[in-house]
Amino acid sequence: MKQRVLSGMQPTGQLHLGNYFGALKKWVEIQDSYECFYCIVDWHALTTAYQDSSAVADACMAVAADWLAAGLDPEKCVMFVQSHVPEHAELHLLLSMVTPVAWLERVPTYKEKQQELTGKDLSTYGFLGYPLLQTADIILYKAGLVPVGEDQVPHLELAREITRRFNSNFGEVFPEPQALLSPVPKLRGTDGRKMSKSYNNSILMAEEPADLDRKIKPMMTDPRRKRRTDPGEPDDCPVFDLHRVFTEAAKQEEVAHLCRTAGFGCLDCKGILLERMHPIMDPMKQRRDELLKQPERIREILRDGAARARKVAEETMEQVRAAIGLLRA
Ligand code: TRP
Ligand code: SF4
Repeated sequence: MKQRVLSGMQPTGQLHLGNYFGALKKWVEIQDSYECFYCIVDWHALTTAYQDSSAVADACMAVAADWLAAGLDPEKCVMFVQSHVPEHAELHLLLSMVTPVAWLERVPTYKEKQQELTGKDLSTYGFLGYPLLQTADIILYKAGLVPVGEDQVPHLELAREITRRFNSNFGEVFPEPQALLSPVPKLRGTDGRKMSKSYNNSILMAEEPADLDRKIKPMMTDPRRKRRTDPGEPDDCPVFDLHRVFTEAAKQEEVAHLCRTAGFGCLDCKGILLERMHPIMDPMKQRRDELLKQPERIREILRDGAARARKVAEETMEQVRAAIGLLRA
């Protein structure tokens, strides 16, 4: 039997290249090797977007379309929306009974995000419970492996601690999940800052081909290259971040050398990059456009995913209710 995998992504709307190379590409690669459950975590989005929740539904559709365009195959994996499987909420509630508040308060992302997102009041119960809801997402499916980036390691640690505490209190119901870490390439946005929707500097996964050129050509480069004759340092250039993920190794070396020796200009460098980005990205854009012509098809895939997820979730919840000793209905 294949090991079970669960991962989740917030419905942020159209995904950017950071989302693709940081997570989605890996998800596509492993869908043959494991029994994969991929969840669009709309309740998690509400923990920070509760003041403008109206965008969440559309954002779920946008993410689902991008997942499919990137190559997630509903025949191979189960893709679904968190709020379509209410068992996530039930397990979250039951886990909250054994979770000391101090464990949640000391998760580093809790204070960090509160300080980062100053425009929002994140002193809510839901936001504090974010990593506990994530724990429920994972162990509801008894997933052994959780593909995530380095930033999620503290959440996985918490998930393991909660799992141990639940098991020692009520009996061995859940296996301890493990992070499936893979190196996440550094991808800066067009202005050199971290690629992020909120900075308006991101390159979408399904960028219109003409827009791709429009974003790459004026993209920030190593500031040392003020003139064509000034040598640069690829490590300090966000354009080279993209070469690292799109350009074959030999050509990457050549580009780096030409940059360091002022052997060509930044526009030449960007041209070489665009020649490599288009053949990979344009087909994704096309697939996305095709899919969005039939939104009913996407909804059907999500409905079917939720039904398959619920089968597993219901089985787990029966065991959980019995282990706790609740009166059977
Ligand atoms: N917190 C994760 C993130 O921000 C998203 C997430 C929610 C998740 N539930 C999950 C990831 C379960 C892995 C497993 O990326
Ligand atoms: Fe960046 Fe390429 Fe210009 Fe070097 S030549 S600074 S890698 S865009």
